[in-house]
Amino acid sequence: MNKVYLTTAIPYVNGKPHIGHAIDYCQADVCARYYILLGDEVRLQAGTDEHGTKIYQKAEAAGVPVQQYVDGNVKEFKDFIAKLGVSYTDFVRTTGPDHERRVQEIWQKLRDHIYMGKYEGWYCAGCERYITQKEYDENNGICPDHQKPYEKLEEENYYFRISDFKEQIKAAIENGEMRILPEFRRKEILRLLQDSPDVSVSRPREQLSWGVDVPDDPSQVMYVWIDALSNYLTVLGYPDEDVSEWWPPVAQFVGKDILRFHAIIWPAMLSGLGLPLPRNIVAHGFILSDGQKMSKSLGNVVDPVEVLDRHGPDAFRYYFLRHIDTFNDSDFTWEKYENAYNNELANDLGNLVQRLATLAAKNDVKIGNDTNVAKLPDEYAELMNNYELGKCFDYVWGKLQELNRRIDEEKPWSLAKNGEKEKLDKCLKSLMRDLLEANYLLSPFLPDTAEKIKGIFADPIAPPETPLFPKD
Ligand code: MSP
Repeated sequence: MNKVYLTTAIPYVNGKPHIGHAIDYCQADVCARYYILLGDEVRLQAGTDEHGTKIYQKAEAAGVPVQQYVDGNVKEFKDFIAKLGVSYTDFVRTTGPDHERRVQEIWQKLRDHIYMGKYEGWYCAGCERYITQKEYDENNGICPDHQKPYEKLEEENYYFRISDFKEQIKAAIENGEMRILPEFRRKEILRLLQDSPDVSVSRPREQLSWGVDVPDDPSQVMYVWIDALSNYLTVLGYPDEDVSEWWPPVAQFVGKDILRFHAIIWPAMLSGLGLPLPRNIVAHGFILSDGQKMSKSLGNVVDPVEVLDRHGPDAFRYYFLRHIDTFNDSDFTWEKYENAYNNELANDLGNLVQRLATLAAKNDVKIGNDTNVAKLPDEYAELMNNYELGKCFDYVWGKLQELNRRIDEEKPWSLAKNGEKEKLDKCLKSLMRDLLEANYLLSPFLPDTAEKIKGIFADPIAPPETPLFPKD
């Protein structure tokens, strides 16, 4: 039995869950369920990134103590993940005492690669990061995400010497030891890696008070990346516990905006700690609304909980795994969502199950337990192993559409009418077996639905009293 460790990015808890947060969870959960089908033992991490000035300011503005503020938002995230039908095995909070202590130990272990330096340059308070001169020039001194001028900044920070590991990381990416998916992102990272400067990993305490203390220097507090990235290790108990059974992660799911941290700083940290690099880093795109970025000022923000409440978790997962491109930016609009639900889930899948179960029950045709469905076609496995989740879902859907075509062609209702019992039996049994085979492949994507379908075609066959995907 293989041990498979999968991770999701830990969101900042400066508000409620955003619809974009759902992608990491959905993708990682499908893979977790796929590996379970393969017979592997799986750990799936989730968590929350709870430090930083922005969170501190949000709590102040809300007039609540910051710990209380983050506790409230963490609950929202946990509820959201549960509603999505995502079953994580481990949850990490960066304000947890174990995490904080372990991060300090990780810092100490990386000490040889950390030095004190002076930063002079541009900074965006909205992004909470330094801006290179090149970026400053390209954006004419104004942050495109926050529409605010960059500020001039001069301060002392600790730096992490990325240059100590560049060659190692480059080789690992090139020889496939650490895959970066999709391919165009891999190329992007190889380019970025070349010019990647050392990264600042702390801030003066006056600038950032809500964070993990830098060991042995009370004037400095850790800035996001060492704290946040370490979560993938601390949640397993590192460095107190031996994590070699689970390490390295088989796949880490992140958004395109944070890929550079995961594909450059993170492997540098791991190399510094003498740990193997993740096998795959899978980067997804952004969710847009009618082609535009969702933002409060544009008034096009979609509440993911509202979407979940509309048709339940499997409809949500269906849209986010099949209509949201696995690697590129894609649109969510209510219209597209409703169309996918009505025309695809309800028609292609819901009606198929209903029709077939009704015909089988009426004509007393059973398949009992003689169906061996525990088969994964090579094409399916290959797509999954390359994290082509959308394409894999399309492949499964193709099988369902094919079944619909077959029913229309073979017209079992006519066979029943004409009393051709033997032919009818054969026809329905074959359709049901193939449906259950497709259903097995569907199960990582739509777990609740797949479970229901399995129940419907058990003995005795029980056509659903209400449609699987009811329309309004
Ligand atoms: N806290 C950091 C991650 C640290 S991981 C060690 C962070 N948090 S975040 O809340 O901004 O983002 C969390 C995840 O959600 C990231 O993978 C990010 O790419 C994703 N998304 C946030 N908004 C998104 C969209 N609009 N669309 C798709 N995903 C986006 O970054």
